[in-house]
Amino acid sequence: MGREPLETALESPVLQSAFSRPLLDWYAANRRKLPWRDGKDPYAVFVSEVMLQQTQVRAVLPYYARWMRRFPTVEALARASEEEVLKEWEGLGYYRRARLLHAAARMVASEFGGRFPSDPEEIASLPGVGPYTLAAVASIAFGKALAAVDGNVIRVVTRWFGIRGVPSRRPARPKILEAVQRLLPSEAPGDFNQAVMELGATVCLPRRPCCLLCPIRKGCVASTKGIQSELPEAAPSKAAVRQFEYAGLVMREGKVLLCRRGDGGRMERLWQFPSVILAKESKRWTGRWKARYGEMKGAELLAVLNYSVTHYRIRLEIYRIEGFQRYKLPSARWTPIAEAPKLAFTAAHRKLADRFLVLT
Ligand code: ADE
Repeated sequence: MGREPLETALESPVLQSAFSRPLLDWYAANRRKLPWRDGKDPYAVFVSEVMLQQTQVRAVLPYYARWMRRFPTVEALARASEEEVLKEWEGLGYYRRARLLHAAARMVASEFGGRFPSDPEEIASLPGVGPYTLAAVASIAFGKALAAVDGNVIRVVTRWFGIRGVPSRRPARPKILEAVQRLLPSEAPGDFNQAVMELGATVCLPRRPCCLLCPIRKGCVASTKGIQSELPEAAPSKAAVRQFEYAGLVMREGKVLLCRRGDGGRMERLWQFPSVILAKESKRWTGRWKARYGEMKGAELLAVLNYSVTHYRIRLEIYRIEGFQRYKLPSARWTPIAEAPKLAFTAAHRKLADRFLVLT
């Protein structure tokens, strides 16, 4: 089970000379100079690897630089408040990552005396550390021979071996994991992991791979057969879902009504204007809004914004709400307008805050 396509009879030594060695030589000559590659500080590697999940290097760079200035050590991060941590993460998306990173730093401080653990089992016990993060940190910072498999690695490996099927599912998934583990050299596994990622990020691109620049073109099944665009196979995509969001700008005596999202679900614990989401466009949103937040007399449309979160396509209308009565929702707060911009908002509501909470 799961072995037959690798039976191109490529045993480890052959794989090392056809794949790993030329790739490592290429990486040594072509690697991008990235700040987390300067040393082997496991905390710095950990921060970079968590930020790089679902986010491109270019977007991560300014966040990483600011983060390391603000929280230069695991202890500094452990001491920070949740609000400070979320604020530094604002705009990077997938906020759960920030909360887990914070929780992991607190665990390193409390359970490991402030020293980042080197034992893979201990690293795996930190909040939010799954197989990818474990392998990346353990290999890059501590030289452990664990294969880190992210989207870039999957693309390189499925093309090189010609592995068909959706990569996240059986039977492709175990074939990919087996292939990467067999390719991994025992020497400098961290460099190897980063070399495969680097090739995927800069040469073996999703749409227009630069095969002529590829150091391992010779053994690549996809390049030889000209089927690069067919691999990796895409999972059937979820259909887009339309939603209609109605938000209220409610102000009183220099304060604005804001709500904090709860735990779990998307964009957890970020701030936003009080809003309701409906499946259909409807004037009856005011009834829902009142039931949730409190009585109001009138609503005047201020702006419309369209945005997307995962497969949701959301049309957001913001209204100035008049004659608002006492709020009902425990997560709602009257916030001084001067303080509001300092909070961590969801991306869409940040745009509203920047536009409507400017102090004149
Ligand atoms: N993507 C995730 N981790 C990376 C790394 N260490 N180098 C380049 N790209 C990456």
